Amino acid sequence: MSEKVSYYENSKEIEKKIWDLLSNAVKDRSSEFRTPVFICGNDKDLDGRVVVLRKADQKKNFIQYHSDIRSSKIEKIKKNSNCSIIFYSKEEKIQIRIKSECEVNYKNDITKESWEKTGHISRKCYLVANGPGTKSEKPTSGLDNKFDNFNFTKEESEAGYKNFCVIKCKIKSIEWLYLAAKGHRRALIDLNGYKKFTWLVP
Ligand SMILES: Cc1cc2nc3c(=O)[nH]c(=O)nc-3n(C[C@H](O)[C@H](O)[C@H](O)COP(=O)(O)O)c2cc1C
Repeated sequence: MSEKVSYYENSKEIEKKIWDLLSNAVKDRSSEFRTPVFICGNDKDLDGRVVVLRKADQKKNFIQYHSDIRSSKIEKIKKNSNCSIIFYSKEEKIQIRIKSECEVNYKNDITKESWEKTGHISRKCYLVANGPGTKSEKPTSGLDNKFDNFNFTKEESEAGYKNFCVIKCKIKSIEWLYLAAKGHRRALIDLNGYKKFTWLVP
C-alpha cells in the first residue's frame, strides 16, 4: 500500500525523500524529476518552460540548471530573481513546488565547472548563431549543418561557452504533495532563516 511509505507522515523522511529525488534526477536521465518546469517573470508577464536539473546540493540548499545567456528569461531573472520550479512524478505520486531566488552565472568558476562537465554533443545547444527565440524566415534549428550533423570536434564546441550560463536557484521554500488513496498529504518546508515544517490541507 502506498501509504505505508516511510515519508507518509514523517517530516524527516519527507525531507530525505525530496533530496533523494532531486539528487537522483541529476544522474538518472529517465527520472521524472529530471525535467521540472521553471517559472519566472513579473506580475504582467509570467512564463514557464521545461529545463534539465543539473545539480542539487542539500547542504548548501540550491539547485541548478544550464541555459543560453541570450534567452529572454535571463533578463527576466535579473529584473526579478524570485522564481518557481515545479516537479511531478506520476510514478511516485509526488509533486514538489520550489520557491527560489535565482542568480545568473556567466563566465565564472561555476560556469567553468559546469561547462567542463558538459559533453561536446550536449554543447550543440549553445552553438546556435542567434539566440533562442530569434525570429526566422524559415523553419530552422538555428545551427550550421555541421553542428546539426554532429560533425564537430570538442575544440569547435568551445565556441559555445560564450553563450553558456548556469542558473543557480537558492531555495526559499519547498512545498510537498503526496497523493495517496488513504488521504493525500501536503506540507511546507520554509527555509527562510531557520527551517520550519508545517502540515497543510492538501
Ligand atoms: C526536455 C526539455 C529540456 C529542456 N532543457 C532546457 C534547459 O536545461 N535549459 C533551458 O534554458 N532550456 C531548456 N529547454 C528549452 C526550454 O523549455 C525553452 O524552450 C527555451 O529555454 C526557450 O524559452 P525561454 O527563453 O523562454 O526559456 C528544454 C526543453 C525540453 C522540452
